[in-house]
Amino acid sequence: MLTARPRRNRRSPFLRDLVEETRLQSQDFIWPVFIKEGQNLKEEISTLPGVFRMSLDVLAEEVSKLMDQGLRSIALFPVIPDAHKNSTASEALNPKGFLPEALRKLKKLFPELIIVTDVALDPYSSDGHDGLVQDGIVVNDASLEVLAKMAVVQADAGADLVAPSDMMDGRVAAIRQALDKAGHHDVGILAYTAKYASSHYGPFREALSSAPRFGDKKTYQINPANAREALRELSLDESEGADIVMVKPALAYLDIIYRLRQNTTLPVAAYQVSGEYAQIEIAARAGALDRERAIVESLTAIRRAGADIILSYYTPWILGHLAEKR
Ligand code: PBG
Repeated sequence: MLTARPRRNRRSPFLRDLVEETRLQSQDFIWPVFIKEGQNLKEEISTLPGVFRMSLDVLAEEVSKLMDQGLRSIALFPVIPDAHKNSTASEALNPKGFLPEALRKLKKLFPELIIVTDVALDPYSSDGHDGLVQDGIVVNDASLEVLAKMAVVQADAGADLVAPSDMMDGRVAAIRQALDKAGHHDVGILAYTAKYASSHYGPFREALSSAPRFGDKKTYQINPANAREALRELSLDESEGADIVMVKPALAYLDIIYRLRQNTTLPVAAYQVSGEYAQIEIAARAGALDRERAIVESLTAIRRAGADIILSYYTPWILGHLAEKR
């Protein structure tokens, strides 16, 4: 005779909801957006169907609609024209550059919106690398100085959280120190703690034309075969002053999300990256997957593994979905 019948709790939709362990909430999402200089601009990215490079006016309209549905945070990724890229990534330090000006405008329009900015040189570098290149090598310590200055420029312009995605050693400490020295004690650091040398960043690099011009990023991003290394990065980022730690990509790295969640008291974020979006979206458009179920399942799995916060290009979709469900 069976006493334990797990199916009892699965009998009806209300029961299933009652015992549901993981829930998606609008306030857990950060929407990564590609911004480009111009007016009334909305260019679809061919490898990211449904995702656009937007001018600020278009983004502002979207944000104001989405804030009514619970949007609270965006992460900005600027398209930098080739003419402004060079080997020192100097445009990253221009306080009157496109990104700082965009930040000022957005903060004025949406003072409560949490705005996250990326700290890495690749969109600004003619080499397409996250750090400075000298004699064909991505050098660490010289890059730290530039990255720290870049973070201060972003904080000066109103960034709430700076997010170093560059994977140079010691960057969290260098950025924390520079921010504090500039009086930005309240600007937080969302550290890309466990950022893997993944195949899933392809569409993002198309969006920003930021692919490395030579070699790859394996001398600074983590080998996908390694998990302990993520814990090493975690203890460094914690001791250097990170406020939030992140795993990237997300779905192929659920074990890493889980390990970070078990080993830190800090909030853990996960980035469902461009290639993950493309896998779902392109498969769904080809009729191979049920789009709604695939999106909800992937985001739920990321939360279930232990992510408190999710960066996702599906943020607008999920906000609409959650609003409808209520
Ligand atoms: C820049 C950066 C990248 C992503 C976020 N910040 C690309 C890279 O490291 O090559 C990828 C995000 C995505 O694929 O959605 N350092």
